Amino acid sequence: MKIGLLHPGAMGASIGLALQANGHEVLWAADGRSADTKSRASAFANRGSVERLAQESDAIISICPPEFARSVAEQVAALGFAGIYVDANAVSPATARNVHAIIGEAYVDGGVIGPPPVHPGTTRLYLSGTRAAEVEPWFNAGTLDAFVLGGDAVAASTLKMCYAAWTKGSAALLLSIRALADSNGVTSDLMREWDISQPGLAQQSEGAALGTAPKAWRFVAEMREIAQTFASAGLPDDFHRGAAAVYERLSGLKSVAEPDFQQVLDALRASRKEHV
Ligand SMILES: NC(=O)c1ccc[n+]([C@@H]2O[C@H](COP(=O)([O-])OP(=O)(O)OC[C@H]3O[C@@H](n4cnc5c(N)ncnc54)[C@H](OP(=O)(O)O)[C@@H]3O)[C@@H](O)[C@H]2O)c1
Repeated sequence: MKIGLLHPGAMGASIGLALQANGHEVLWAADGRSADTKSRASAFANRGSVERLAQESDAIISICPPEFARSVAEQVAALGFAGIYVDANAVSPATARNVHAIIGEAYVDGGVIGPPPVHPGTTRLYLSGTRAAEVEPWFNAGTLDAFVLGGDAVAASTLKMCYAAWTKGSAALLLSIRALADSNGVTSDLMREWDISQPGLAQQSEGAALGTAPKAWRFVAEMREIAQTFASAGLPDDFHRGAAAVYERLSGLKSVAEPDFQQVLDALRASRKEHV
């Protein structure tokens, strides 16, 4: 098959390589894209515009920052694209239903769990919806494992929200606690107590800084999608609204490949509030 990728980011490019490993031709559209995307997409066939990509593709996968999932779907729908459209973005079930309504019956919901895969076994693409079973075999070989979920048409997005609620939500909480301890001069006491009663948490909090800071700008919208998922289920959404605020403060570290830990804590402490 010819499969269009909108767009080859870190995850999108690795999905493209997985498709190629299965014998598919991968198309992308360079118009308007950055130098980073262009270099990641060098193994794929450039069709220039999204319009030409849509004309030549049998199917399209949308894999972009979550806040653009709707506009990418609108752009493709406006071109009259009739092939399968997989939205693999980290979006709430409500946003996924919205994209479903924009695309129509050829929509397949996707949710990616794990890092951009280099080796097999690290990363899963969950799929749901009436045509999900048609997509699963696209990934029979290669490094990405695809699984069809039963139940609701947007089960894949819902699963991704539940999963990331913990991984990215807990990372935001840990970083806030480390910044709080640092601000109040109790870091060494907290580390000593954690080593006694919460072994591994100190390293986990340092790992959270390195693992999230360069991508924090993209997590802001994802945390809001998660908050919306909690609110739609009648649950408090404040926790992930708070996590969005944490990642917003770190978003300036986007271009810093390996920020040091103190730099991350300093970015979190954007302004001090005095309480009496
Ligand atoms: N990376 C991961 O570890 C990971 C894991 C699981 C799930 N995911 C999901 O995968 C999706 C993409 O993540 P990623 O890591 O590939 O992100 P990324 O590396 O930041 O790449 C995002 C891609 O989207 C493009 N883009 C930027 N602005 C856009 C717009 N307005 N409309 C459409 N596309 C736009 C970017 O192009 P330009 O930069 O050229 O503008 C880039 O090619 C997200 O929904 C994310 O939650 C990622």
